[in-house]
Amino acid sequence: MLSWLPGFAARDVAIDLGTANTLVYVQGRGIVLSEPSVVAMDTISGEVLAVGSEAKRMIGRTPARISAVRPLRHGVITDFEVTEAMLRYFLRRSDQPRFGRPRLIMCVPSGVTEVEMRAVVDASRAAGARGVQLIEEPLAAAIGAGLDIAEPRGRMVVDVGGGTTEVAVISLGQIVVSESLRIGGYELDDAVSAHLRQAHGLAIGAQTAEDIKIELGSASSVAGDGALEVRGRHLGSGLPKSVVLGASEIHEALADGLEAIMSAIKETLERTPPELAADLTRTGIVLAGGGVLLDGFAGRVEQETGMPARLADSPLTCVATGSGMALEEFDAMAGGHRSIGRPKRHRQL
Ligand SMILES: Nc1ncnc2c1ncn2[C@@H]1O[C@H](COP(=O)(O)OP(=O)(O)OP(=O)(O)O)[C@@H](O)[C@H]1O
Ligand SMILES: [Mg+2]
Repeated sequence: MLSWLPGFAARDVAIDLGTANTLVYVQGRGIVLSEPSVVAMDTISGEVLAVGSEAKRMIGRTPARISAVRPLRHGVITDFEVTEAMLRYFLRRSDQPRFGRPRLIMCVPSGVTEVEMRAVVDASRAAGARGVQLIEEPLAAAIGAGLDIAEPRGRMVVDVGGGTTEVAVISLGQIVVSESLRIGGYELDDAVSAHLRQAHGLAIGAQTAEDIKIELGSASSVAGDGALEVRGRHLGSGLPKSVVLGASEIHEALADGLEAIMSAIKETLERTPPELAADLTRTGIVLAGGGVLLDGFAGRVEQETGMPARLADSPLTCVATGSGMALEEFDAMAGGHRSIGRPKRHRQL
C-alpha cells in the first residue's frame, strides 16, 4: 500500500448519489463524472456487465438473463449490493490512484432515516471509502447555487430530482424548515405511461415516457399546443402501434404530480418563521435538480407563491458542485475539526 506517499494518496471525493444520476466531484479537479444511476447485471452469475449510460441504454431491452436496475428509489438505497458495485465502479473511473482509499462526502435527502443513512455509509465503505461524511442535499444545492448560506438570512431551495422533491429554508448554515416528498421526475414519467395505457391502450417504456414529458410536458397552468407521434405496443392487439399525442393530454397527466410539488412548497412557506419568510420575499426561491427543467416550472412556482423564483445556473450539477465546495472548504481547515456547518447536520459516522 502506497496510499500515504505524496502523489499516491487518494483525493477526497464528493458524490451526489441520485435516483436518476450520480455525479462525482474530485478535490481540486471538480466534477469528473456524471452518469445515470443504473447497473446492468447477469442475473445468474451476479456479474456486473455495465454501469451508467451504457447500462441505461439496456433498460427495457435486456434478455431474461440480464437485468438493468436502478439501485435507488426516492433518493435512498433499495439495493445495497448493486449500489456498492456502482459506487466502486464510479470511484475507479474517477481517476484515483490504484490503491488509494478516498474520504467521501455523500449527499443524502433531508428526510432520510437513520437506517437509510447507515446504508449510504456502509455502501460507501464497502466500495472503498476510508471515511464518510454526509451532507443534506438542500444545503449542498444552496452552496452549489452560489448562495451564502452562512448569513442570518432566509434562503429557500427547491430540488426536484428523479425520485424526490426537497424543499428547504436555510439560515445560518442550517436547514430551519424542510419538506421531503417522495415525488420526482419518475413519478411524472409514470403518470405519462398511465395516461397512454388508459387513453390510448398503448404500453410504452420508461425512456419513452421520459422523452414525452421533456418534449411535450409543461408546468405552466395553461397547456401548450404541441403534438408528438409516439410508438409503443398496443395492449389490445399486442402489436406495435403509433399514436399522435397532444400537449394538453400530457398537461392533464402531469397535473396531480405538479400540484403535489407546489403544495409542498406552499406548506413549507406556511411553516417558515415570519422573519425568515420576510427575507424570502427578497431572496426568492432557487430551483435545482433536473425536474425544474420542465418547461414553465419557475413561472408556475412564482405564480403559486407570489415570490420570485429562478433556476440555479446548472440545476443538474449544483448538488455535486455544492458538496464539492464543502469538501474543498473542510480541506482548507485541515488540522482543525472536520465538519461543514454544524456537526448535527453533517454526522460523522
Ligand atoms: N428538460 C427536462 N424537463 C423535464 N424534466 C427533466 C429535464 N431534464 C431532466 N429532467 C428530469 O430530471 C430528473 C433527474 O434529475 P436529477 O439528476 O436532479 O435527479 P437525481 O438527483 O438523480 O434524483 P434524486 O435527487 O431524486 O435522488 C429525471 O426525472 C429527468 O426526467
Ligand atoms: Mg438529486
